[in-house]
Amino acid sequence: MRRPVAAVALLSLASLAVACTQLKRCAYEGWGRDEWQQPERVVGALGLEPGARVADLGSGGGYFTFRLARAVGPTGRVYAADVDEDLNAYVRERAEEEGLTNVETVLAEYADPKLPEAVDLVFTCDTYHHLEDRTPYFAGLKRYLRPKGRVAIIEFAEAPSWYLPDHATSGETIRSEMEAAGYRLVQAHDFLARQHFLVFAVD
Ligand SMILES: C[S@@+](CC[C@H](N)C(=O)[O-])C[C@H]1O[C@@H](n2cnc3c(N)ncnc32)[C@H](O)[C@@H]1O
Repeated sequence: MRRPVAAVALLSLASLAVACTQLKRCAYEGWGRDEWQQPERVVGALGLEPGARVADLGSGGGYFTFRLARAVGPTGRVYAADVDEDLNAYVRERAEEEGLTNVETVLAEYADPKLPEAVDLVFTCDTYHHLEDRTPYFAGLKRYLRPKGRVAIIEFAEAPSWYLPDHATSGETIRSEMEAAGYRLVQAHDFLARQHFLVFAVD
């Protein structure tokens, strides 16, 4: 009797974990995101070369990971780095389904993305506000950048909804923290109505 009960309990827990991952994805990605997020235009604006190495920091459900992976092509690599292993597992599964062999998930630590190699671009969308002690974080991140490497930050200018009141950062704050970490602003795209889209290089 005990074994079937344990199996049912395990199955329920597994289903709950899958449901939680889906819920998190919905919370991060919402509905109709493509319209205002303009993901293809964002990726185009990054000017990625085939073969480039990219880290998607705080990759979540991979909204940008898969698009970045297509932009860098099979000779490139995209590290989907997130502290959430359930979301990483989802990204791995979907990358496999889509035949994207150039995506690798990385279990990041809160204070260190733990990338396995230096990259040409660290891309981070809607994650900046999650990072603690951002100036030392980004100062340390330089060791993961190749020469001429860049950091692209997309972040809500104002809270995206009532249930996410802290999910935004002002452009001045991002800029001053990044400058204190030793970066300079090289591009400020203004085509996203709700978000900053700032690109930094090492000073
Ligand atoms: C709002 S979601 C954004 C997901 C994705 N970038 C997108 O645009 O859909 C923020 C993600 O950052 C992750 N995160 C939070 N703190 C982190 C950290 N210190 N390092 C890496 N990822 C982090 C969370 O687990 C979550 O998946």
